[in-house]
Amino acid sequence: MTKDNPGFNTLAIHAGAQPDPTTGARATPIYQTTSFVFNDTDHAAALFGLQQFGNIYTRIMNPTQAVLEERIAALEGGTAALAVASGHAAQLLVFHTIMSPGDNFVAANRLYGGSVNQFGHAFKSFDWQVRWADPSDPASFEAKIDRRTKAIFIESLANPGGTFVDIAAIAEIARRHELPLIVDNTMATPYLLRPLEHGADIVVHSLTKFIGGHGNSMGGVIVDGGTFDWSKSGKYPMLSEPRPEYAGVVLHQTFGNIAFAIAARVLGLRDFGPAISPFNAFMLVTGAETLPLRMQRHCDNALAVATWLKTHDKVSWVSYAGLEDDPNHVLQQRYSPKGAGAVFTFGLKGGYEAGKRFVEGLEMFSHLANIGDTRSLVIHPASTTHRQLTPEQQVAAGAGPDVVRLSVGIEDVSDIIADLEQSLAKL
Ligand SMILES: Cc1ncc(COP(=O)(O)O)c(C=O)c1O
Repeated sequence: MTKDNPGFNTLAIHAGAQPDPTTGARATPIYQTTSFVFNDTDHAAALFGLQQFGNIYTRIMNPTQAVLEERIAALEGGTAALAVASGHAAQLLVFHTIMSPGDNFVAANRLYGGSVNQFGHAFKSFDWQVRWADPSDPASFEAKIDRRTKAIFIESLANPGGTFVDIAAIAEIARRHELPLIVDNTMATPYLLRPLEHGADIVVHSLTKFIGGHGNSMGGVIVDGGTFDWSKSGKYPMLSEPRPEYAGVVLHQTFGNIAFAIAARVLGLRDFGPAISPFNAFMLVTGAETLPLRMQRHCDNALAVATWLKTHDKVSWVSYAGLEDDPNHVLQQRYSPKGAGAVFTFGLKGGYEAGKRFVEGLEMFSHLANIGDTRSLVIHPASTTHRQLTPEQQVAAGAGPDVVRLSVGIEDVSDIIADLEQSLAKL
């Protein structure tokens, strides 16, 4: 790239990638190997001791993964990134890097149901506690902070509700309490919104969704904003104290503004092992190249579908921040003026039973538990993704009994609407 600051479309195609130096291959090769030959014993020792960067073993690092990492870091405006096997693995490694037993973090109660489960149940085994706050009320986060609080976690655009969050207001609270703000940017993607520009410190993604974009590969990523001082408060010993397994290296001191990404790799990924396969990394790199084109079409189609649904007599409400009269529209205009994303919910007058029948009546939409595919997708959260939550948690998460969630694809919008219309007609 010749310019110092290439545009987003250019970065989506080129960041992190060069023609293969050995073969000249132009597309990123799939380095399908478990391990890498050392030049000599000194080289091996330097790699193991963190004195030199380089490939050792694909559980820790691999050149195909490295292209994906550099690309996403560039798109988000971060200093470094770590690609892992899934979005959930990314979240696990983020919290492992900052939490000790007995610590807590404050999270928005409007999150993907799997994250509500991970935080509320699985994390209990580590004695990490989550405290829920209301993302539409930034002050509610502050009320939950105490001396054992280690971070604040939000989704920039919440799944399944499709609502935007005032990231800057929550970032301000995090900064005042010297806590990192972690933002899951899966639903918005950096094409629509870059949380680091609004005060976030760490960004995580399920790459499985819009960045991969074709519903064929799992992946997750942690982006280090390079913004947080991990040494100041003494609350993040994994980064600020000598590491016995690396001969006393202090990660923050040694690696500065990429220390978080390094710690998540050499202490989290290395020891827990949720590595992304080189093949999946290749698929996700390829997907990322068309992210801007796809994301704009997703948003345009979703707005047309939401506008149409709003006028339908079997639909009681539509929650899509792109609609001018939506209560979330002002935040959407401020944070994501190019569009409101592809995922949104609406309510059927017939409630729970109508929700199930409507999903069954669709022909082109696929009924499945994913978002961010080229194809249009549908799910009835109360009977599927959110069924393990209590009724109160379901409503708080925007997944009550009458709610249908759409992930609007990039097919012709007239065909998408025709499919919805024929299924609604059968109710
Ligand atoms: C917003 C959000 N975050 C995280 C995840 C978890 O990602 P993965 O399924 O890749 O583990 C999902 C999955 O649907 C999601 O929608």
